Amino acid sequence: MANTADTIAFREIAHPAPTSDADRAVVLANPGFGTAFTDHMVSVDWTEGKGWHDATIGPRGPIMLDPAAAVLHYAQEIFEGLKAYRHPDGTTALFRPEANARRFNASADRLAMPNLPEELFLGAIEALLAKDGGWIPEGAGASLYLRPFMFANEAFLGVRPAKQYKFLLIASPAGNYFKSGAPAVSIWVSSDYTRAAPGGTGAAKCGGNYAASLVPQAAAIERGFDQVVFLDAVERKWIEELGGMNLFFVFDDGRVITPPLSGTILPGITRDSLLELLREEGLDVAEERYSIADWEADAKSGKLVECFACGTAAVVTPVGRVAGRDLDFTIGTGGPGQLTGKVKDKLTGIQRGEIADSHGWVKRFD
Ligand code: PLP
Ligand code: COI
Repeated sequence: MANTADTIAFREIAHPAPTSDADRAVVLANPGFGTAFTDHMVSVDWTEGKGWHDATIGPRGPIMLDPAAAVLHYAQEIFEGLKAYRHPDGTTALFRPEANARRFNASADRLAMPNLPEELFLGAIEALLAKDGGWIPEGAGASLYLRPFMFANEAFLGVRPAKQYKFLLIASPAGNYFKSGAPAVSIWVSSDYTRAAPGGTGAAKCGGNYAASLVPQAAAIERGFDQVVFLDAVERKWIEELGGMNLFFVFDDGRVITPPLSGTILPGITRDSLLELLREEGLDVAEERYSIADWEADAKSGKLVECFACGTAAVVTPVGRVAGRDLDFTIGTGGPGQLTGKVKDKLTGIQRGEIADSHGWVKRFD
């Protein structure tokens, strides 16, 4: 690679008309999820033989793309999602951003795309936060959602890895992911569709995985459910994950399990953090396969007492009801369970700087 972050400085492009403080305050008072954006974005280009170049920070806005750009035809695209928080002492903090940088490159490897040096990934975030730090909403559940992504913009219709890519970083002030504000979410089990097959791209954070989840997700919503849960593509028996979240199961004897990283689910950073926090609670925690039949039987017998989904956007969200073809059951009381609440408070407390971070997970900026 010709360039590294050490040799790249972000060239600043002045914003002609940044959002006024008053208009920004209106957005931050009720940010929603994914609809409002900050004033700036970072852009870096990659060309074969040249490496990363032309790093800029400037006004967020439309980008030029050749109609033959490879991403529009063969979906060479990856992304990440992480949040910036305003800590009580006024500093800006990120949660395990190095883990997102590493996963970004793991996704890049799977999609035959170039790696982005970790310093460049982190440097881009720092540069954007220096400009748009005023867009971090405050208050319970609020944060600035950061969306780094990369796509093939070479104009070429042959099927092979592109020789030209663009990395962009945008940011969006965010409140709760689930609009309903319900105490627990309901889940529809998809029997017609799967999300990822062994050997596929399930462990990569690429746009194509989400495109494939839209029809089953829409079917779940049509039936009145919040989310779809996918089963494994081979036996159609083992619980994998939701379209954008991992799952945990809590049993009456204190045992906790989550599906293993088999290559078909996304290795969630929230999942990994919760595994550690749950182990610190002295619980017996395992990464273990769990079948849909056991899920139903254990919920009905009372052996399964809690279930929760987790991810950057969804944080920790209790699952209350599960239904599918020929099944319908409630977990525990159908509302948030005790352990779910406890680990959610612990995790968000660390992320928000309200609980000491003994893991070195929080990265602060002044
Ligand atoms: N699974 C999928 C498919 C996701 O899109 C996400 C969200 O990024 C997760 C799991 C949770 O991952 P993380 O905790 O790193 O946000
Ligand atoms: C995230 O939690 O960051 C996700 O990517 C989930 C969803 C918004 C795609």
